[in-house]
Amino acid sequence: MGGGWFESVAEARRRAERVLPPSVAAALVAGAEAGVSLADNTAAFGALGFAPRVADKPASRDLSVTVMGQTLSLPVLISPVGVQAVHPDAELAVARAAAARGTAMGLSSFGAKPVEEVVAANPQTFFQIYWAGSRERIEQRLERARAAGAVGLIVTLDWSFVHSRDRGSPFIPQRIDLAAVRRLAPEVARRPRWLVRWLRSGGLPGLTVPNMTIPGEAPPGFFAAYGEWMQTPPPTWDDLAWLRSQWDGPCMIKGIVRIDDAKRAVDVGATAISVSNHGGNNLDGTPATIRALPAVAAAVGDSVEVLLDGGVRRGGDAVKAVALGARAVMIGRAALWGLAANGQAGVENVLDVLRAGIDSALLGLGRAAVAELEPADIVVPPGFAAALGGEA
Ligand SMILES: Cc1cc2nc3c(=O)[nH]c(=O)nc-3n(C[C@H](O)[C@H](O)[C@H](O)COP(=O)(O)O)c2cc1C
Repeated sequence: MGGGWFESVAEARRRAERVLPPSVAAALVAGAEAGVSLADNTAAFGALGFAPRVADKPASRDLSVTVMGQTLSLPVLISPVGVQAVHPDAELAVARAAAARGTAMGLSSFGAKPVEEVVAANPQTFFQIYWAGSRERIEQRLERARAAGAVGLIVTLDWSFVHSRDRGSPFIPQRIDLAAVRRLAPEVARRPRWLVRWLRSGGLPGLTVPNMTIPGEAPPGFFAAYGEWMQTPPPTWDDLAWLRSQWDGPCMIKGIVRIDDAKRAVDVGATAISVSNHGGNNLDGTPATIRALPAVAAAVGDSVEVLLDGGVRRGGDAVKAVALGARAVMIGRAALWGLAANGQAGVENVLDVLRAGIDSALLGLGRAAVAELEPADIVVPPGFAAALGGEA
């Protein structure tokens, strides 16, 4: 149980679910309402096929790519995820694993570890923010990330505060007090390994979000910061142009599925976009991101770096996305399952599984580099693609 090498993300998930209390495991999977988008993100990858070759194949393959000025050893990076309590080392373990495997770390502003420590663990860190609070408060958070040495900004826009799940939502306490401990005790008792990990690290999980802190304020709790975000009027494109002007490094807009939004992101000066539906956690019924990708890439791929996140569970998924127009993919849950299963080594394991899968898919397809991948390498069933919001 737990430790030891695993051969697939599916196995990382099984091990994670044997370690985590059910509430934490459920919070990690999340998924809005009926989970249609959550399921489609992975099912759509399964609906795509490969068109392999049998000879004249390259003896070695180059997996490296550049994303927002960073050279990565594989076309996979860590998507920002704000989820607490998975592992005491949290984003530090993920950042170290990404650094050890030559890739970048996306750090959520709702993460558990301060940006300064995460950048120290992985200098290739992109800091993610939401449009939360006044312009002044947003500026202060950017300033802090810049001073910490974050090499890029991720602005996540696809959130509409959907809080209902047909399967029911896990109990997340406001704070770890006696009442919360009493309520969670039965499931924690069934997951002693998780508790032991926390006790060894010096305590129980806190629910503060240190990257939402403004100078002079104590780090807010998750719910206080979430409240600030909920009460902030959603940004206009003018707000986003202002935001872009406050960050002089590379900037990604994450959460785009429509062609018209992709074009507006180019207009406001984004370096990159991620075709994303927040891992199916947002507006349920949004198509799988791999369905939306080809039209978005055709529309703006020459003007902006196009990435994809959502549903990536194997190296072949990354290869499908790159062949259909993405420069790289970002992983959310896959990294979290690796983290829960085996800490830093578990995340490294996940990245190794993905790397091996990408390499075998390139070999099968007869491609010497990810840059050589083309749409013709992929079998796309009729009616698969979803071109949303205009003509490519
Ligand atoms: C539990 C959880 C928390 C997340 N928190 C954030 C966040 O704080 N910021 C953000 O930009 N995206 C967040 N996301 C979305 C991920 O960055 C990413 O878009 C998604 O997980 C990709 O899908 P995948 O999990 O299938 O790889 C979260 C996703 C999950 C599952």
